[in-house]
Amino acid sequence: MRTHFCGLVDETLIGQTVTLCGWADVARNLGGVCFIDLRDHEGIVQVVAEPSDAAGNAAVVATAEKVGYEDCLRVTGVVRRRQSVNPKLRTGQVEVVAEAIEVLNKAEPLPFHHHENPGEETRLKYRYLDLRSPDMQRKLRTRTRLVSALRHWLDARGFQDIETPILTKATPEGARDFLVPARMHPGEFYALPQSPQLFKQILMMAGFDRYYQIARCFRDEALRADRQLEFTQLDMEFAWVSERDVQDTVEAMVRDVLREVAGINLDPEFPRMTYAEAMRRYGSDKPDLRIALELVDVAGLVKDSQFAVFTGPANDAGGRVCALRIPGGASLSRKQIDDYAAHAAKYGAKGLAYIKIGDNGEVSSPIQKFFDEAAFAALVAHVGAGNGDMVFFGAGRYSTVSDFMGAIRLKAGKDFGLVEDRWAPLWVTDFPMFEWDDEARRYVALHHPFTAPAVDDEADLRANAATAVSRGYDMVLNGNEIGGGSIRIHRSSMQSAVFELLGIGAEEAELKFGFLLDALKYGAPPHGGIAFGIDRIAALIAGTESIRDVIAFPKTTSAQCLMTGAPSPIPDAQLAEVHVQVRPKA
Ligand code: AMO
Ligand code: AMP
Repeated sequence: MRTHFCGLVDETLIGQTVTLCGWADVARNLGGVCFIDLRDHEGIVQVVAEPSDAAGNAAVVATAEKVGYEDCLRVTGVVRRRQSVNPKLRTGQVEVVAEAIEVLNKAEPLPFHHHENPGEETRLKYRYLDLRSPDMQRKLRTRTRLVSALRHWLDARGFQDIETPILTKATPEGARDFLVPARMHPGEFYALPQSPQLFKQILMMAGFDRYYQIARCFRDEALRADRQLEFTQLDMEFAWVSERDVQDTVEAMVRDVLREVAGINLDPEFPRMTYAEAMRRYGSDKPDLRIALELVDVAGLVKDSQFAVFTGPANDAGGRVCALRIPGGASLSRKQIDDYAAHAAKYGAKGLAYIKIGDNGEVSSPIQKFFDEAAFAALVAHVGAGNGDMVFFGAGRYSTVSDFMGAIRLKAGKDFGLVEDRWAPLWVTDFPMFEWDDEARRYVALHHPFTAPAVDDEADLRANAATAVSRGYDMVLNGNEIGGGSIRIHRSSMQSAVFELLGIGAEEAELKFGFLLDALKYGAPPHGGIAFGIDRIAALIAGTESIRDVIAFPKTTSAQCLMTGAPSPIPDAQLAEVHVQVRPKA
């Protein structure tokens, strides 16, 4: 249908006749002369329809006059040098003088044009229009280049790309499962995989050594800017490895691929930090190192004050009292301080005490009254606060305080322009093996139940479960967890011990994971791996906050596809076929 792409018409074609196909990005009628910006996936070129002596040209102008936004056109014409060059366009030196314009498909009045931003709901409903925008085209193409470069890198190094089932048995990664009724087995269900975790481990036991897969994963969990119900992992597994083997390999991969795809130069060696240090200094297990602010523990300086909110946790081993100094933060108004407190509350804070020191040293603080003069001065000195600064305080349970103070740190970093313009990768290691779940009154796995503990001995693990450290590791980039993995348990007895500590009894373990426990018995090699969030990496390198922008057809935060209307009710007859009866809404 066409001889060239719109966005690639250039000076080398001057004098030649070309045929182009595309959409009318903009059409202007300047009284007898019409300009159409013709757009395809490569870009835009200006088409001119003007009266001339050429036969049939009046018809061309007449057609051009009626062209509207997003009409689908086929244009034949001669390339000539443009009088007024448009430096913003790649094709800005030239234009195409139309000799024929064919309207292949007229567009009805549009719900919106991609030049406007009508809000995400409308964009998602008419996703095909939204995706036509050069910005969305660029973002999705960035993702394509990322995946292609990763495959290339791995293929060149002998990794096997192996597909694992989508209709399978539950693979726990801490979220709810999506279930699929099994028509041929009334009352039974397949689960969609939360990750290929168990299959990739079995592949190591099956002798494939180095595996990867660009794998779709399904997790029924709350959606956010960095979370979708279905998302894509670069999933990897290696046999006969220690954590450093895995980390060094994938670190080189990330460095090489991000350089190639996005021109990003990452540190020659990523910094490393234990989970405990990350929580202590940054209040996060995925610290954004581009922000220089750090939390400072102050329990020792407040434990004898008159403020019960501080003295309680300051004198409790499971408690924490810490401070965050924001240089220049004294400019925050009363209302802005309230906004910070409201932000902290979202992460579980019961309050957000502060000390504000004005430019002339004047102190404003709701907690000053609880300290004698010397103790207050010591506290201010310890956190290094001076004129013009704001110091926020968090007190309570260690994990809660770390969470909300970590969130305050990020907000302050953004609000005060303290996010350095650089790429900050990081390995976080030495995660706790288990987390105590107060509601369920049992341990849950911090990574997943197949992660090996640092100790080799089951009795040792049982005796020290509360403080046990795992062989898990996460890769963080600019405060985003882009990958997580671990060395796995490769002995059946240890796997059984971990199940037991997680409250999964022998019978349940057999029912859910019998195949794994069996496979571990027949010479399973030591193995480990990692999975990267492709959507998150693509969003980072495309320079967008939300992974929805690098997924062609994402779900909204209320878990719907606005374009297709999924999810939707199913007719009774179809439900009967799969032996499913819907309960009335509670
Ligand atoms: P994990 O659960 O940490 O590990 O997932 C690995 C990476 O996948 C990305 N990710 C997500 N991206 C978008 N939406 C989601 N809902 C979502 N959940 C996770 C993150 C994360 O770092 N089987 C293990 C890996 C292993 O141990 O090898 C696993 O799935 O970037
Ligand atoms: P009050 O005397 O109760 O008004 O509290 C004094 C200050 O302590 C207020 O600024 C509260 O926001 C703050 N505050 C209350 N609970 C906490 C907490 N758990 N951590 C930090 N600050 C708190």
